[in-house]
Amino acid sequence: MKQQILSALPGNFSWAEHLHIFDSLPSTSDEAKRLAQLGAPEGTAVIARKQTAGRGRMGRQFDSQQDLGLYLSVVLRPNCLPQQLMHLTCTMAVAACEAVSQLGDLCPQIKWTNDLIAQSKKLGGILTELSIDSKTGLVEYAVVGIGINCLHTKADFPEELQDMAISLAMCQCAVSPAQVASALLREIFAKNANLLTEKPAIMDRYRALCMTAGKEIMLLQGQGRIYGKALRIDDDGGLLVRLADGREKTVTSGEVSVRGMYGYL
Ligand code: BTN
Repeated sequence: MKQQILSALPGNFSWAEHLHIFDSLPSTSDEAKRLAQLGAPEGTAVIARKQTAGRGRMGRQFDSQQDLGLYLSVVLRPNCLPQQLMHLTCTMAVAACEAVSQLGDLCPQIKWTNDLIAQSKKLGGILTELSIDSKTGLVEYAVVGIGINCLHTKADFPEELQDMAISLAMCQCAVSPAQVASALLREIFAKNANLLTEKPAIMDRYRALCMTAGKEIMLLQGQGRIYGKALRIDDDGGLLVRLADGREKTVTSGEVSVRGMYGYL
C-alpha cells in the first residue's frame, strides 16, 4: 500500500518520509497522537488497512473494515492559538471533497460540520483533535482523522448503517483507499500551507459544498433536542440557526440532523 500511495505523490513531497502504514490499529488517530507526543513532525500520517476501534464525533464508532475504506490521521503543528483554528475541521472537509473530486465524476457535499455526503448518505467523516500546551496556551499539535468509505457494497455495511452509508464504489467511483490517500495527502498539504492566511476563501468553498444551510434541522445538545432552520455558516464554522420560537442562535458543537437525511423525517 505504501508504494501505491507514494507512486501517486510528487517525488519531492516532503511529507512522504513520515508516512506510517499498519495492517491493523485500534485507531489511526490514537497512533498519530502517540507519535505527535513523541515529537513527530508536521505531516506525519498514519494509515491502517483496518481499525478495531475507529472513532467518530460524539463518541460514535466509525466502521473500519479491512481494505474497504481509507482510515487516515495526520499530525499538524499550526503554532497558533486554538481560537484561530475554529475552521480546521471545515478546511479538512473541503480538502476531502476536493481530493475525491479529482478521482472521478463525484463531488461529495458536506453535512455540517464534518460529514462527507454523497446521494444524501454518509460517505465519510472527519474527527479533529487538538492538544494545547498548558504553559503557552498554543496548539501543540492537531490530529486530523479522516475516514472515507471506498469499496463497500451496500451489503458490506452493518445492517443498521445500510440505509445511511455509501461508498465511492456505490457512486460509480471505484478507487482504492491508496488512491484516495494520495489525493487526500496532497490536498491536506496544500490547505494546511494556507490554513491561517486563506480562511475567508476556504470558508466560501466550505459554504458552497455544505448542504445544511436552508434545511430544517434537529440539533442534539447533551440530552436536549432543538428544532429550527439552518440559515448560514460563519467564518469560524459556526452554524446560525433560526429556532422554532424565532430566536437566532449560532451553534458551534453538537450533532445536527438534517430533515430528510439519515432517517430523520
Ligand atoms: C465522524 O464521522 O464523526 C468522524 C469519523 C472519523 C473517522 C476517522 S477514520 C481515521 C481516524 N481514526 C479514527 O479513529 N477516526 C478517524
